[in-house]
Amino acid sequence: MEYRGYDSSGIALFDQGKLTVVKKQGKLGNLTAVLSGKEFNSTVGLGHIRWATHGEPTDQNAHPHVDCGHKFAIVHNGIIENMAELKSRLKRDGHVFTSQSDSEIFAHLIEKNYHGNLVQAVKQTLLEVKGAYGLGVISAAEPDKIVAARLGSPLVLGILPEQEGFLVASDVAAMLPFTKEVVYLEDGELVEITGEQYSISNGKTRLDKRDSQTVDWDLAEAEKEGYEHFMLKEIMEESKVVVESMRGRVLPDEGNVKLGGLIDVMPQLASAKRIIFVACGTAHYACRIGEYLIESQVGLPVEVEYASEFRYSEATLDQGTIVIAISQSGETADTLAAIRHAKKLGALTLGIVNVVGSSVSRETTAGIYNHVGPEISVASTKAFVSQLVILVLLMVLLGRQRRMTVDRAKEILRELGQLPGKIKEILQQQEVIQEIAKRYAASTNFIFIGRKLNYPIALEGALKLKEISYIHAEGYPAGELKHGPLALIDQTWPVVALIPQDSVYEKTLSNLQEVKARQGKIIALATVGDTQVKELAEQVIYLPKTLEILTPILNVVPLQLLAYYIAKERGCPIDQPRNLAKSVTVE
Ligand code: G6P
Repeated sequence: MEYRGYDSSGIALFDQGKLTVVKKQGKLGNLTAVLSGKEFNSTVGLGHIRWATHGEPTDQNAHPHVDCGHKFAIVHNGIIENMAELKSRLKRDGHVFTSQSDSEIFAHLIEKNYHGNLVQAVKQTLLEVKGAYGLGVISAAEPDKIVAARLGSPLVLGILPEQEGFLVASDVAAMLPFTKEVVYLEDGELVEITGEQYSISNGKTRLDKRDSQTVDWDLAEAEKEGYEHFMLKEIMEESKVVVESMRGRVLPDEGNVKLGGLIDVMPQLASAKRIIFVACGTAHYACRIGEYLIESQVGLPVEVEYASEFRYSEATLDQGTIVIAISQSGETADTLAAIRHAKKLGALTLGIVNVVGSSVSRETTAGIYNHVGPEISVASTKAFVSQLVILVLLMVLLGRQRRMTVDRAKEILRELGQLPGKIKEILQQQEVIQEIAKRYAASTNFIFIGRKLNYPIALEGALKLKEISYIHAEGYPAGELKHGPLALIDQTWPVVALIPQDSVYEKTLSNLQEVKARQGKIIALATVGDTQVKELAEQVIYLPKTLEILTPILNVVPLQLLAYYIAKERGCPIDQPRNLAKSVTVE
């Protein structure tokens, strides 16, 4: 399961009846090195590979976590949303915490709720916790047992052959070396496992035995949850990604957002005079959308720089300037250098970062995490969608400090909450997109066009295609075609046009006429119900209607799928394109 996280790992088991925990920062190899040569005689145990959310990747923050009395050990995937409230209550009751991880709360709550029955203690604990969890618990008080539960995070039970016992894991991949017979747990279910049997319950009721299923995947496939590539898996997660990026951050009644990582810099945000975004690659295009969002809705001047250029910029910055770095990995060398440069010039620096505890998150004064899990495919997809969602949240926060009305903020947040369903509708059109991909896979050039907020999406669509299919592709503002690129267009050039029904719809339509007149082949992304675009385009992908400022979040999804299926048609190594790397830690 190493692909799920690789910043620390740990195990808990019983050594001569005593609960023993061994955990280690860094890759799994660090833990196995510590354990090598040691012998334990335990029939139950827990293991965990961490991908940090709360707290840096250190030995202390690694799982399993234990309670004060060292009687309960837990492993947890997910996030506790009411962490602050629970932690202060537990501290008041005298519990002592040894990590910054939100997960440690489980160990202390179970300790508090234990009155001679582990299952009851876990059930009571789950009633008190808000958030998402895949949870595993063992206890020295009942050393023949594992209790596991899930809500919002996956959990699978594996049945070993010849009644040898059971496994629980958050991914079927972990089971495959041992068994292919599994039982999938549903959200809200808890399983109690002893040596010979298991029982599943749902809240208070014990459920009937569920039939097990036989997995017919091999190990490598299972890590991708059955998807052929990580890229497709990550695109398919995008509806969930919107939910995860918003989780616990929206205050619907107040028409505002709460971004925990920015609390300390709220006064500086309120008095900021200028924002400069710095980033590389896909994250850079997210910044360009951030520029439109903040300039139009907040009224603050925004500049966007390539981090690799900004690091050498001779711009004058002052305390009224906030430099915001966006980085999935948080390790991109140019982005890091840009932050250091900004600090030297006296600006406040913030980060929008997916990997918790990464260099960008450590070196910026404050920031916002994406919280969307590891992104493995080199071409960034789900992290981009999350970056856009976070930028919308940041826009609302800055806007509400300034001119944005409560009603406008409520409208935006309400519509943002509708996007997961709308993204699902788009993902269901994957076969239509695959057909289009087949038709154009042999093309040698592509142009992507869009206007306003969708111009950066045109750039990102072109980037996705060139990264993984090696086809030459350019993104252009639709209105700029006539100033040069139109000279290229003939019947061999596919033109991918972003044309939602927005404030520049009619203008973009005219730009499409210009392409059609030169026999360019138009593939359009239009709004459901549109009747005009199909008159001009060879193919139309219809997308649900949303607010103009949110159209980029929907438009990018089919472009990612288009790039994916074209690369697949061409037989390219999609997850690891030639010459590229996921995290570029050199200048
Ligand atoms: C590399 C990756 C891109 C990514 C860029 C920025 O070039 O191949 O997919 O967009 O780095 O990465 P970051 O981790 O800073 O977002």
